[in-house]
Parts: sequence; structure tokens; C-alpha cells
Amino acid sequence: MNFIRLIVILACALNVVTANAAIDWHEVVPGVWKGIVGTPEDYSLLSVADCKPNLDGFSRLPQVGLPALADKITGTVSDGKTSLSIPLVKNEQIYGFGLNFQNVHQRGKILNLHVDHFGGKDTGRNHAPVPFYVSSAGYGIFVNSARYLTVYAGSGARKDSPDAPVAKDRNTDRSWTSRPYSDAVSVLVPAPGAEIYLIAGPTPMDVVRRYNLLCGGGPLPPRWGLGFTQRTPTKYSADKVKNEADEFERMGYPLDFIGLEPGWQSKAYPCTFEWDSTRFADPQAFVADMLARKVRVNLWTNPYVSPDSKIYNEMYPLSGSHTVWCGIVPDLADENARRLWQDKLDREHIGIGVSGYKIDEVDGYDFYLWPDVATFPSGVSAEQMRQTYGLWVQKVTDDAFRKRNTRTFGLVRASNAGGNSYPYVLYNDNYNHEDFITALINSGFCGVLWTPEVRGSKSSEEWLRRIQSVVFSPMAMINAWSSGTKPWSFPDVAEQVKEYSLLRMRMMPYWYSEFARYHFDGIPPFRAMNLEPGFNPETAASTVMKSTSLDDDPYLEAVSKEIKDQYMAGEYLLVAPMFAGQTSRKVVLPAGDWYDFYTGEYVGNARTLEVTPGLDRIPVYVKDGAIIPMTDPLLHAPTKGEKYNLEIRHYGKKDGHYRLYDDDGETFDYEKGDYAWRDIKVERQKNGMLKGSISKVEKNKPNNIGKVTWRFMTENK
Ligand code: GAL
Repeated sequence: MNFIRLIVILACALNVVTANAAIDWHEVVPGVWKGIVGTPEDYSLLSVADCKPNLDGFSRLPQVGLPALADKITGTVSDGKTSLSIPLVKNEQIYGFGLNFQNVHQRGKILNLHVDHFGGKDTGRNHAPVPFYVSSAGYGIFVNSARYLTVYAGSGARKDSPDAPVAKDRNTDRSWTSRPYSDAVSVLVPAPGAEIYLIAGPTPMDVVRRYNLLCGGGPLPPRWGLGFTQRTPTKYSADKVKNEADEFERMGYPLDFIGLEPGWQSKAYPCTFEWDSTRFADPQAFVADMLARKVRVNLWTNPYVSPDSKIYNEMYPLSGSHTVWCGIVPDLADENARRLWQDKLDREHIGIGVSGYKIDEVDGYDFYLWPDVATFPSGVSAEQMRQTYGLWVQKVTDDAFRKRNTRTFGLVRASNAGGNSYPYVLYNDNYNHEDFITALINSGFCGVLWTPEVRGSKSSEEWLRRIQSVVFSPMAMINAWSSGTKPWSFPDVAEQVKEYSLLRMRMMPYWYSEFARYHFDGIPPFRAMNLEPGFNPETAASTVMKSTSLDDDPYLEAVSKEIKDQYMAGEYLLVAPMFAGQTSRKVVLPAGDWYDFYTGEYVGNARTLEVTPGLDRIPVYVKDGAIIPMTDPLLHAPTKGEKYNLEIRHYGKKDGHYRLYDDDGETFDYEKGDYAWRDIKVERQKNGMLKGSISKVEKNKPNNIGKVTWRFMTENK
């Protein structure tokens, strides 16, 4: 142990305050600096996730120097805790701090970052309370701690602040506010040290990209993962599941994977991980029958081990002190516990062709999970285990599929920083459509994927509105575990539901390429308008938000213009969901010409539209020069080696360039270079007409593209 470390530890032990010192920064990957305050704990979010930075991706980002605010960031260790202070300026907004459901703007919020189910209010307790935020000023901060962190995201001001708010008289001054601006974000880490990362831009999108690449880049799902998925009601039998798949086929609705909910295991809550022999007499034959139908099987489970499971006795010494529904909690920080669970899953499911999991109940509620006084044999505290359990279950299962060189795509109810590259989508039991869209927006700020799943609806209008937005999300899913709904459950909109689920399939080349950009370049496929160049909240301000009498205050300007109900889907699409009861809505268009997705007609530039789309349409707008590669309305994603046709759409007047990603769609061979990018270009010819071309595939690279046709959506002249 070196001398300084010893002093720090002694100081902490004596409960001495260390100097409010500036931080020494070291560049760890291009544009990302790490600083150490006190003595950080070895067990952290990144140590659990063990992700390898995607170095190649950084080479496509601009070169940057250490952001100027670096020497104004301070860290103090006092009372065994670490407090970090990061300055804020008046017109700055901040985004992130995990998967929030109701707010995109985080300035002024006080959050307790704690893995939990979402309890109806943004408090910091949620399914992915990622301690990362990005500033509108073009830098980001990430605190690599697996503790419950308290974040004062710009509340409270120091008396010696160089930019202190001015005292006002409430009796006489109408501009008095109970929440004057604060000049700093403060983070309290309940440990005698912390690792803090300062991430450069220059743009907020570059910050997000660097953060994602630091954590390994986004996952590249198998192609089938981007198709349509249905979850069956609980206690369904093999025959019922097969019949359901047949019904989809017969009715002409797409289906790529089907999820089994509780009932497939001999015991659930806690789980055995063993098949229920009355409902699934021959699991191997069942999975094979499903695969013959081109439908994969996903299994619901939670990780808590039932006394009736054959691994119970062996797991017992490798589990925590407390139970969950009387099941033991594998200490996944222990390699032996991980191996035991992974082998079980591999033997019972993965080895017979199961494609993935929905790993439930790893988030909260406090009443169910182990309390903070629980202990684990590995010595990891209950608190740290709670913050990282979602990461562990993803890591163990993803690794099991990797060993078989097969990609998975599944669901998980908790994650955290570092989980960026795991092929999992978050979901929850909340069911507010608006909140679901805000969560989708926030998912892009915290390196997770989120699905606004469809379960049931009070009306066919609500049903269609929910379906329309879920097809523009990472996982197009109906979760009928309790409702028993099917896509055609509301007959008066069944055709529209079919049209949108087939649109999801037709857009697969686009979705697949956009996920490749997430993987290789760190660009989230679903993200906030705030990350869009040319997005000017002022446009929103004048027309969408209620104006305040204090509009000339830069602080109030920055904190008030918030867009929570429209988002970007991939490089070119702006999606503006409609909610039940709405017949019209406002859409804020960033700078640049925008076109209607369905008709190719021009709609506007840097303005707020009032749109009345009718029930059949979710408003979607496309950037000028956009190229959207589409395919046929398939009922199942193309399998390895299966060719698919391309319909390449072009929108607007500008020339276009798109990089289409292709690989086998199922294995990890792309990690060895087995993938291809095809350049699609649309260029204006001498005769004034636009013409498209697609580059030839390089020798020995995958090529799954069949016939290519072109469609100029905006009048080609
Ligand atoms: C919940 C989960 C639901 C469903 C249900 C089955 O915890 O969020 O989606 O799987 O369990 O019991």
C-alpha cells in the first residue's frame, strides 16, 4: 500500500475531512478521464460488468481535450462518505441518472439511486438507476460505485459560490422562487472513496457515445430479436403454446419468439428451473417443434432457488443469509454459484434450443427482496448486491449463450452502468403509456434498452395506440401473461395492428443496422430529441410550453423546456406517439427539412406542428436525404444464410448515404470480423433525377441481400 493511500485510510478511520481537493485526471480511453477520490471500493459497477471498452468505436469520434470544468470538480471524504461536486452554469440542463419515467430534465431533482421497481414517481429508485449524466454543455459524469448514491442534481447553493443566486423578497418580488438555481451537482457516495469519470463531447451525443463505448458498446441482437414477440398466459401447456404459434401463422401476424410465463417450471416464486412435466412432457421435442415453426422460446424465471430444485442443496452454502419467497439467493459474486446456476440453465434449456430468458424480480420490491442487513458468503454487502444483481443475471446468462456461439435477446427487470452491451431489454409492471415513452427517451441516456410493452387495454383505440408505439421500440412485444390478449383481440383495429406489426418486420434491415451503430459506434437506437442536432428547445418553448413570466431568466429557460413525448428512432426517424383520448398533438421538428414517413410529403423545418393523424397512424417524420432500407412483410426474421430482399426508400430532396449492416444474424462470428457494411447512396444525376446505388459486397464477407428495389418517397424531380 502506498503512503498516500495509507494516509487517506487513516484519515477516514479517524473521521477526518480530507481537503476539498481538485481531482487528478487520467485519460483512460479517448475523451474519457478517470479521477480517484479517497479510497474507492474494489467492488464497483464496472468491476461486476467487466466490460471491455470498444476502442475501435472511439476512433470515429472527434479528438478532444480535457473539458475545462475538470479542475472545478472536487471530491471530499468525510464521515466515511465521499461527496463529489461538479459545477453547473445557469443555462445548463442535465439528462440521465438512469431510467426515469416522468422527467427528462434532471436539473433541480434530488434522487436516491437505488435499484428498485418504479413506484410511480421519479425518486431515483428504478430499474436502472445508472449514475451517469450528460450535460447540455457537452460533457458527462459517471460515478462508478455500486452503492446507493444520493444525487442533488442542482439544488442548494454554497454560501461562497462565485455565482450565488441573489436573495429576493418574497413579500414584494413576484420572481421569488422556492427553488433558486444551484451552481453544482453534488453526489454523496456512502463509502470512503469514489471513482469518477469525466467524459468529453463536444456534443451531448458524443458524450453518450463515449459512455456507451467505454461500457463495451450496445448489444447486437440476433435478427429474430427485432421481430415481433408474444408472451403467453401463465400455466400454458406445450400444446397451447404450439397452437398459439400456429394461430399467428394462420392469421398472418408475425411472430419470432414466444415467451412462457410462470407455469412452465415445476415450481415458481421461488423457481426450480426444471420443466413442469404435466404441461411439458417432452421439453426437447417441444422446443424443436417450435423451432420448426420458426418461433423461438423465451423463458420467464426469477433467480431465487426453490427447495424443490435439484441444485438447492449445492447452492445453499453459496447463497445469501436471507430468502426471497423462501427461495435461496445465489451469491452471484461467487464464481461457484455462477457456474452452478449457469450449468443448470444450460442443461435444462439452452442446450435444447431455448433462445433466451425474461429474468424477473431482480429489481425490488423491498418487501420481497433481501433486506440491507443480509450477508453473502462472498463478503459483498446486501446493498452492493442489490445494485448489481441485474448485472450479474445478465452476465451469467449472456455468457451461457456465448459459450454456444449463439446470440440471445431477452428481458430483465434491473440493470445498471456497465450492462450496456448485454442483450437485454428492461420492462416493468407500471402501465402508463406516457411514462413508458418517457422511459424510452431516458433509456438512451443511460445505456439500457426499454420496451413500452403492450398488455391489455380498455379500448381498441388504446390498444392500437400502444401497438403503434411498441413497434418503434427495442422490443415489439405483447405481454399477455395475465390479460391473455392477442394482436387481434380488438377486432375493429385488428387490421391496423397487423399492418404495424408487419411494418416492424419490413423495417428490420433499418433496425438491424441501427443496432449495429449502437454496438460499433455507441449511438443509442432510441433516444431523446435533446441529442438531435438542430433540436432547439426554444422552438418548443415558444409554442409547446407554457411561457413563464420569468422567460428572461436563463436558469428558468434551461430548466423548463422539456420534451417527454417524442423521440428519435435510429438515424432518421422522429416518432411522436399518440395516447388514448388524443386526437391531435404537437410535434417539435428540429432544424432541417422533415418529411412524412407514410407519404414522403414535406412537413416543415424547425417548427412546431399541430398534427391530427387519425387513429390509423402514429406520426413519424423523416429527415431530408434519409435512406430507410426495408424488406418484405415477413412473418419471421430471416435465419442464418437466408436471403432477404431490400426495398430502399429515400425521402426528401437531398442526396443520401446509408451504411447497411449485414452478418449471419445469429452467432458471434461478427466479433471475428465476419460482417459487412454496404454503402447505399442516392445521388442527383445531371438530368435532375435522384438515382440509387448499393456497393458490392467485399470478398468473403456475409451477403444476405436478395433483390433490390428503390422507392423515392418524395416526388423525384
Ligand atoms: C411480473 C412481471 C410480469 C409477469 C408476471 C408473471 O413480475 O413483471 O411481466 O412476468 O411477473 O407472474
